[in-house]
Amino acid sequence: MKKLLVALAGLGVLMGAATVNAAPEDDRTKMVNTFKSKYPDVKIEDYVYGALAFDPDSMSQYKSIMEFPPYSGEVDKGEKLWKTPMKSGKTYADCLPNGGKMIAGNYPMFDNAKNKVVTLEDAINDCRVANGETAWEYGDAKTMGLLTAYMRTLSDGMKMNIKVEGEGAMKAFEDGKKTYYQRAGQFNFSCASCHVDAAGNRLRSEILSPVVGQATHWPVFRGGDTLVTLQKRYEGCYRNVRHVPDKPGSTRFNNLEYFHSYLSNGLEMQSTVFRK
Ligand code: HEC
Repeated sequence: MKKLLVALAGLGVLMGAATVNAAPEDDRTKMVNTFKSKYPDVKIEDYVYGALAFDPDSMSQYKSIMEFPPYSGEVDKGEKLWKTPMKSGKTYADCLPNGGKMIAGNYPMFDNAKNKVVTLEDAINDCRVANGETAWEYGDAKTMGLLTAYMRTLSDGMKMNIKVEGEGAMKAFEDGKKTYYQRAGQFNFSCASCHVDAAGNRLRSEILSPVVGQATHWPVFRGGDTLVTLQKRYEGCYRNVRHVPDKPGSTRFNNLEYFHSYLSNGLEMQSTVFRK
């Protein structure tokens, strides 16, 4: 009898491990399939355009704006930051994997040694600190924002490739998922209320973008040249439902970004883009 119990327990652990790794992929495919059946005419590749994919008029306006982006001067400032050597004499390209090219789609990643999610912004700050500079604030548009606006252009066309492997990664993913579905604020909405359940519908004058594809194109420039990073957008959405949000770079937001980005896996990245 004892042997049988041990054997069953062993099997349970094994089955547990298998489902742990499958869960994020299940979440993603279920989500994609839900959207596919609700909107059979919208191609999943086009979800990277967010709400524009559901509105041909706005899409054609967007395309003409993108021919001569009003924010290109800002991206040039980011390029200058990128090319300016740090105190050690080294550049970001010297410090990041693959010279910083075609890597943005691997972030956020789970770092087992640190036992936490590392965003691209964290990786940049790690470089800065290792090379004699001080860390920048994640949400600072004039430093981190501009640098990433340029740096992410070096990953254009890369497919989002977030990995969730191991227990720590799975915990962070689950924590991000919990935040995503948690209702908050005076209006008692979760992210999913708007970007899953109501995606493709209008909220006042705006069409709500679906969660799939949302993480592929950051930072965005709103209304011309106002830079908004992904986590600043989280903050903005929370404020809209009258919830006092966490700060960009907090563990909660990093885990949320980890979950949120995973749902865009396989979609092509593009930086930077215009948004209303
Ligand atoms: C009350 C509805 C509402 C809630 C709740 C909400 N958002 Fe939004 N969100 C919007 C609207 C409206 C926009 C602008 C139109 C669009 O792109 O969807 C937007 C835009 C976004 C965008 C930008 C999409 C793009 O391509 O530019 C992201 C990312 C986003 N929201 C993430 C979130 C996350 C994460 C949460 C939860 C923390 C959240 N939102 C909660 C209404 C909401």
